[in-house]
Amino acid sequence: MLKIDPATIPSHHLHRTLLSAVAPRPIAFASTIDAEGKANLSPFSCFNVFGVNPSTLIFSPSRSGRGNELKDTYLNVKEVPEVVINIVTYSMIEQMNLASTEFPRGINEFFKSGFTPVASEKVRPYRVKESPVQLECRVRQVIETGDGPGAANLVICEVVLIHVNEKVLDKTGAIDTRKLDLVGRMGADYYVRASKSSLFTLGKPVGNQAIGVDSLPEEVRMSNILTGNDLGRLGSLQSMPTAHEIEKAMASPDFRTISIKHGGMIAEIKQEAHLVARKMITNNEIHEALILLLAANSLEVTDL
Ligand SMILES: Cc1cc2nc3c(=O)[nH]c(=O)nc-3n(C[C@H](O)[C@H](O)[C@H](O)COP(=O)(O)O)c2cc1C
Repeated sequence: MLKIDPATIPSHHLHRTLLSAVAPRPIAFASTIDAEGKANLSPFSCFNVFGVNPSTLIFSPSRSGRGNELKDTYLNVKEVPEVVINIVTYSMIEQMNLASTEFPRGINEFFKSGFTPVASEKVRPYRVKESPVQLECRVRQVIETGDGPGAANLVICEVVLIHVNEKVLDKTGAIDTRKLDLVGRMGADYYVRASKSSLFTLGKPVGNQAIGVDSLPEEVRMSNILTGNDLGRLGSLQSMPTAHEIEKAMASPDFRTISIKHGGMIAEIKQEAHLVARKMITNNEIHEALILLLAANSLEVTDL
């Protein structure tokens, strides 16, 4: 593994390393105003949600890496501690990118980028009409992490009103991820589009028990056929197969067929058992796969 000490590499290299590794990042399209009421709109991918009680979002209009300038968004929230964070979808990316141009202070990026400002209800900055989710926020705190180039300015926001376009809701009134078509920021100029085949589901672990990968025999853990994901699914089972289940599997016609096919060669039988188990895991037959693996694991020459 390459070791990188942040203190010893040029800051542009450090920036690239961290932003490539910590990705994809959601994008806060932040709408703010200055003390005179002039609007500003800029994207920030150093952004996330951190709590719901109170509902807390944090984003960072950082000091510029080259000239150490403060961003207009930061200056605005110091003057008027309110912001609307608009969620960015794929249909908005080109205009969003245009809005990230470092226009002089006071220039209204709503007009520059062609987005439509809509009055908010609880805060003064405008919402972006084209965004399907608009979060009106009050700024609770701003934490400056340093005063040098690239230092973060954490804007800690409390959401006070959420607007959701009904087009992205499911039948129960909840946001349907499949309808949102969100984008995320990666390293360099890469983005990711969260839609269609790039979406997948992963159920939360059920109950409060899981046997854990450490309960699997070494031969299973060290398998050159099973993947880390396979081991994760096996380790998520709620209980180990019983001795009776394993014995029954060893006496089954399927297991006998594998033994005969490989002429009693234990290494080959085990190899095939791992291949079959892998298919079973793919078919969601996790418990049965573990029975087969434990049956193969218990094979001794005398069993054949
Ligand atoms: C997708 C995207 C994400 C960005 N994320 C950040 C970020 O997290 N922090 C930051 O300081 N600048 C970020 N930028 C750059 C700012 O948008 C840019 O500096 C902008 O001009 C700041 O505008 P302002 O001075 O009007 O606040 C990002 C740009 C893009 C296109």
